[in-house]
Amino acid sequence: MCGIVAYIGPKDAAPILLEGLQRLEYRGYDSAGLVVNNKGLKVRKVKGRVADLAGAVPARFKGGLGIGHTRWATHGVPNDVNAHPHLDTKERIAVVHNGIIENADELRAKLIADGAVFVSETDTEVLAHLIARTVQDTGSLEEAVRKALKSVVGTYGIAVVDAERGSEIVVARNGSPIVIGIGEKEMFCASDVAALVRYTRQVVHLEDGELAVLKADGFHTFTMDARATSKEPLTVDWDAGHYDTGGYEHYLLKEISDQPESVARTLRGRLDDRFHIAHLGGLNLDPRETRAFRRVKIIGCGSAYYAGQIGAQLIEELARIPADAEPASEFRYRSPVVEHDTLYVAVSQSGETYDTLAAVQELKRKGGRVLGVVNAVGSAIAREVDGGVYLHAGPEVSVASTKAFTSTAVAFALIALHFGRVRDLSPSDGRRIADGLRRLPEQIERIVEQGDAIAALARKYAPHPGMMFVGRVRGYPVAREGAQKLKEISYVHAEAYPASELKHGPLALIGPDMPTVAVVPDDELLDKNLTTLGEIRARGGKVLMIGHREPDAKLAEDVIVVPKNEVELDPILLGIPLQLFAYHAAVALERDVDKPRNLAKSVTVE
Ligand code: F6R
Repeated sequence: MCGIVAYIGPKDAAPILLEGLQRLEYRGYDSAGLVVNNKGLKVRKVKGRVADLAGAVPARFKGGLGIGHTRWATHGVPNDVNAHPHLDTKERIAVVHNGIIENADELRAKLIADGAVFVSETDTEVLAHLIARTVQDTGSLEEAVRKALKSVVGTYGIAVVDAERGSEIVVARNGSPIVIGIGEKEMFCASDVAALVRYTRQVVHLEDGELAVLKADGFHTFTMDARATSKEPLTVDWDAGHYDTGGYEHYLLKEISDQPESVARTLRGRLDDRFHIAHLGGLNLDPRETRAFRRVKIIGCGSAYYAGQIGAQLIEELARIPADAEPASEFRYRSPVVEHDTLYVAVSQSGETYDTLAAVQELKRKGGRVLGVVNAVGSAIAREVDGGVYLHAGPEVSVASTKAFTSTAVAFALIALHFGRVRDLSPSDGRRIADGLRRLPEQIERIVEQGDAIAALARKYAPHPGMMFVGRVRGYPVAREGAQKLKEISYVHAEAYPASELKHGPLALIGPDMPTVAVVPDDELLDKNLTTLGEIRARGGKVLMIGHREPDAKLAEDVIVVPKNEVELDPILLGIPLQLFAYHAAVALERDVDKPRNLAKSVTVE
């Protein structure tokens, strides 16, 4: 949510900033801007996409120091003035910011009384004026940023330049990510490694409350109390190719199609042939501790929450521990009772989602044991938890989550197998699940191969004003995620219901204009699901069934048949045709598939 880039070194900063912003555009895409510091600040900002900014940056914007921003509006409408960078009245200081300054109104009133002239509606502008006020007195940008941030309440990842200090950039983090990239006599900084990997794979993540001064030949980090901190650089696994579309028309299709490999990576080295267990050393739980938990509570937002629901089901079925999932935002705001014998699991692709991070911090404050199921290595949530499982799904660029969702469900199957085998799951059931997991990549491949047939169905159903998605028990989180995918990228209204709840209200909506997508696994609830389909058909509703065999033609007008695995693992496969269905519906409706309106990939604000 908002992307920041910074560069200092011997090259021209502007092209590097523009390239970095393009890579970060999934974080926000309503306006963009940059500033180059070369004997004075040269600023360009526009409403629109990074491509619009690129067209607006003049060739004379030379100089080896600059910062840039791509915005997802929180304060003030998207327009040229509200776009970042923001400057102080004398145009000495320029700031780009990701996050929210909560006491901006109060600070703004004081600064105006002091003579500052504000031009934008943003919260960020107060930072520029605050920093400018102190830099005049001390001459030190580092000092000025530190002092200014002490009076700020809220979240931020910021980069700051001073027109009078042409050899340094100051960055700071509190709640919004800042990654420093270390080059050869050049330094980079961004909200995400995606903007850095083309130039360097050596990175350092700032912690909350940390600041850094970047110079071309190095950097130093320190706390808000000016205490120096030391940082060990990490090597990023992914290179620039992982952030390209790789010949696909959209990132989303690339990421859906990548799932045979991404799931194989989630499983790699984690299944044991001899004891039919899962090796998950990163959980940091010994068998005694694992046996002592009496509940598992999974938290996450959006698709991560739905993947957590699949996880809860797996843990309850395989490990026989009561488990449930809850939206992280609801969890943190309802002041939950934190129990010592409950294991908490936070789910996040980005590892940055503010609501999930805040829930983890609240749990830790109250002494809860928290694990993470996270994709982004070294991210804030990954660093905050007591242990966990990395997905290794690879970078997910498209705003809608697909491969991370599937890998999260797979990671939960591993956790459930691990817990189950420490508790009461028999070796033969352990083997059954482990073998089922091994079959997943090849079965996913077979679903992806059905892309053309699914595209034809998507074209048929996309013109409807709305769709109902239903599933029962194992199928319900799959239906929820299917509805979520469809609405977020195609803007077709979609509602998900437990199949059994249909007759308690929403059946009234069913008719020729409201088709139903039914998730119908071949499990012990098959007959019940088929009865529901009959009820829908009797009311003139069309049914597209996702399942394991063709039912009686009277029950479903269309069917997508998915390879069968073990009943517990089937939800992982049943979700994939729904991703393709949503993708092709969005393409048929000519939507901006990778950057749906109003959304951003990493929601780093409350
Ligand atoms: C939907 C989607 C979102 C995210 C949610 C959590 O396709 O991508 O619902 O799942 O914003 O994001 P992470 O997993 O990064 O915490």
